[in-house]
Amino acid sequence: MLEHLENLPPDPILGLSAAYHEDKNPNKIDLGVGVYKDETGMTPIMAAVHEAEERLLASEQSKSYLPQAGVAEFNQGVLELVFGRGHTVLNAGRAVSVQAPGGCGALRIGAEVINRSKAGNTVWLSDPSWPNHYPLLQGADLTIRTYPYYDMARRDIDFAAMLSALQEATPGDVLLLHGCCHNPCGADLDAAQWQALTDLVLEKALVPYIDVAYQGLAQGLDEDAAGWRQMASQVPEMLVASSCSKNFGLYRERAGAILFVAADSAQAETAKMQAMNAARQIYSMPPSHGAAIAGLILNSVDLRQSWEQELQAMRDRVNGMRDKLVQRLEAGGQYDFGFIRKQFGLFSFLGITSEQIQRLRDEYAIYMVGSTRMNVAGLTPDNIDYFTDSLLAVL
Ligand SMILES: Cc1ncc(COP(=O)(O)O)c(C=O)c1O
Repeated sequence: MLEHLENLPPDPILGLSAAYHEDKNPNKIDLGVGVYKDETGMTPIMAAVHEAEERLLASEQSKSYLPQAGVAEFNQGVLELVFGRGHTVLNAGRAVSVQAPGGCGALRIGAEVINRSKAGNTVWLSDPSWPNHYPLLQGADLTIRTYPYYDMARRDIDFAAMLSALQEATPGDVLLLHGCCHNPCGADLDAAQWQALTDLVLEKALVPYIDVAYQGLAQGLDEDAAGWRQMASQVPEMLVASSCSKNFGLYRERAGAILFVAADSAQAETAKMQAMNAARQIYSMPPSHGAAIAGLILNSVDLRQSWEQELQAMRDRVNGMRDKLVQRLEAGGQYDFGFIRKQFGLFSFLGITSEQIQRLRDEYAIYMVGSTRMNVAGLTPDNIDYFTDSLLAVL
């Protein structure tokens, strides 16, 4: 049987990472893989996570299976984190959460539930989007259509083109939006654009599906959520895939949740049942460790305070690096990189040529994906001058 299988090409981002690790150049920089890095280039374990792990180790009494929906404290914490305490969908009992293995697991379970509601349903995805959205959604037999989002020439969102393309959406179609820190372009919707999309969702009876993988890494936990919270208060239905990989630094622990907002609490419970059933058919039960950590942090006063402070330091570091990068690249008065300052999260497109990307790699050991997406968090006070000097040399 196995001899019938074909080899697959290596994943481009993981291949880049392997090449980076083999590179002997002491100045090498990895701007490829999408993880947060601190000033020393490390992806740290957050202090609140460490402390929560110690508390859990001391108190945990069993490794028996979790309930099908996962850690109850975590699900409640994520609902409040995503929508904000006292949000109308929470007060009305219209929102439910099912723990999933990371944001990817959540996106996939959400997709399975969409397909159960209407086989082969269409999901509208931004162009560009995170490449993994395609297999995650198509794996659940959904049809993908795209709307233009980022205009490489203007280095901004082409909102008029987005709205115009979405005129073709039909009732029941799903509109996938990046909650904040758009991956790969870093360009986020503003309040007026969220409202215009809310109006469109209502007018065309679409179902918004919000991918929230970076809450707290743009401007703040509540600030980043303002757009989708505003939308949630006006639309009858919404799905949210929430990930704890980046904002809790829990990447390998696979903590996330799929949230459903329905017209009433009975429909929300049905969606939850369907999600749990879909999970049962794929991996049965969610893993405990990461969700137990995040649940404890979200629900303890001291851990939450420590987590929020550290998250703020992370976001300040990334935004500070954006600022420094623009200052250095624009110092000669020759180039305009001001768009990087207006974008948020780990990523921006540099918008240079593929030859320039290749030269950065071959001549300077600077590793970036071919789309020119760079992970801004790969820059540190120690390597930023080397990076900007190298980039200016190839421009
Ligand atoms: C846009 C987007 N969505 C979802 C995810 C899911 O992350 P994870 O499955 O690691 O929680 C990521 C991770 O890189 C992402 O960038």
